Amino acid sequence: MLNVALPKGRLGEKVYSMFERAGFECPSIRENNRKLIFENEECGVRYFWVKPSDVAIYVERGAADIGVAGKDILLEYEPEVYELLDLNTGKCRMAVAAKKGFRDNAARTLRVATKFSNIAGDYYASIGRDIDIIHLNGSIEIAPILDLSDVIVDIVETGTTLKENDLEVIETIVDISARLIANKSSFKFKNEPIERLVKSLAMQVEEKK
Ligand code: PRP
Repeated sequence: MLNVALPKGRLGEKVYSMFERAGFECPSIRENNRKLIFENEECGVRYFWVKPSDVAIYVERGAADIGVAGKDILLEYEPEVYELLDLNTGKCRMAVAAKKGFRDNAARTLRVATKFSNIAGDYYASIGRDIDIIHLNGSIEIAPILDLSDVIVDIVETGTTLKENDLEVIETIVDISARLIANKSSFKFKNEPIERLVKSLAMQVEEKK
């Protein structure tokens, strides 16, 4: 049985369709209910819906053999997993943003609000800028508006959230997309189904390009 952790939400549904096309279908997953675990014995697959930011934990600890996680989560938490494939979906970018017209004053410590403290820390270390990290768990865009921070480091997808809050991107740190990840020992012991899946997903990714 191949145990798969999928990120709950639109991205997970999109990714499930790709798995289905790869021969790992599980029709019961499309039933409209609150169940979190779905199994198809015939295909030898079991899916779990988990919070997107938790997928890597399930995979790292072997509760799931494989999963789909955003590159943002992989960069932030550096889980001990194999990154097998860029699924070329769930695309967005990690960016620094601030109020329109913001000018950085190099003489002062920059206050950075973010959910991604490690990514932000690494980025500012790489450019030698002194910062004070303010770790938040959501609605990051509010921080510069209320003068809790000077800038934010956050995910930008369509840019709508920034625009509607009068913020703008100052700098892109890194492009993000969804990645197929595997538990290291599962990759060894369940190699056949995993490789079969990777091959089909890789073909689907190429077809869509
Ligand atoms: C994410 C991110 C931004 C928004 C960007 O938030 O933190 O707020 O999406 O998307 P956009 O560029 O298309 O507007 P999420 O919805 O995950 O909620 P959060 O406030 O909990 O971070």
